[in-house]
Amino acid sequence: MLDFGPKCRFSGPEWFFSYLARQIALYMLKLQMQTDPMWVKHVVSGNIEEILTDHAYCELKAASTANSLIVQYPQHPELVEQMSDLSQEEMGHFRMVHREIQKRGFALGRERKDSYVNELAKFLKKKGKSVEETLCDKLLFAAMIEARSCERFKVLSEEIDDEGLATFYHKLMISEARHYTMFIKLARKLCPTVDVDGRWEAFLAYEGEVITRYGKSERIHG
Ligand SMILES: [Fe+2]
Ligand SMILES: [Fe+2]
Repeated sequence: MLDFGPKCRFSGPEWFFSYLARQIALYMLKLQMQTDPMWVKHVVSGNIEEILTDHAYCELKAASTANSLIVQYPQHPELVEQMSDLSQEEMGHFRMVHREIQKRGFALGRERKDSYVNELAKFLKKKGKSVEETLCDKLLFAAMIEARSCERFKVLSEEIDDEGLATFYHKLMISEARHYTMFIKLARKLCPTVDVDGRWEAFLAYEGEVITRYGKSERIHG
């Protein structure tokens, strides 16, 4: 279980809302491995340009995922509505990250390979799945990426040696926690013939093993 404990760089009302967000995140996220804070100190802090570029593309890909779910599942109005909102919000995040890049005198670099996401995709069954099982896997895949992003943003918000970015990542941590919940709820609602919670537990165990090979590079999931 992740520790969203009392460590916090905010005070006054900000501290209260930060504490509340951490408690919600603690309750919601069930990731099995926590990122070592040394990842920020020893890897990220020395290359802010790299982490921001990688992050910008994560937001862009999140918007693309939302768009492609609309194209693939237009028969589900609730999914179409929620993915429309999500796509807009993720593009807003992309713009925010791009502004942080520009503010620091950098330019957006090329897209980085996301090996973590490629490894996660191997968990998804390729053949012999029902329509609902396929949809469920796609929603849980998106939920997992949101959950890990949320956890990484939490560590960044606590450890990064840049007050502006600490506040920035704290806000994004809350958004990603909300997105994670939305995908899990959609899976439960739209895939009633699938054991969504059982599949999620198995996926969490798989992700817990995958993530042990990461936390060594200046990427959001690296
Ligand atoms: Fe986002
Ligand atoms: Fe998100």
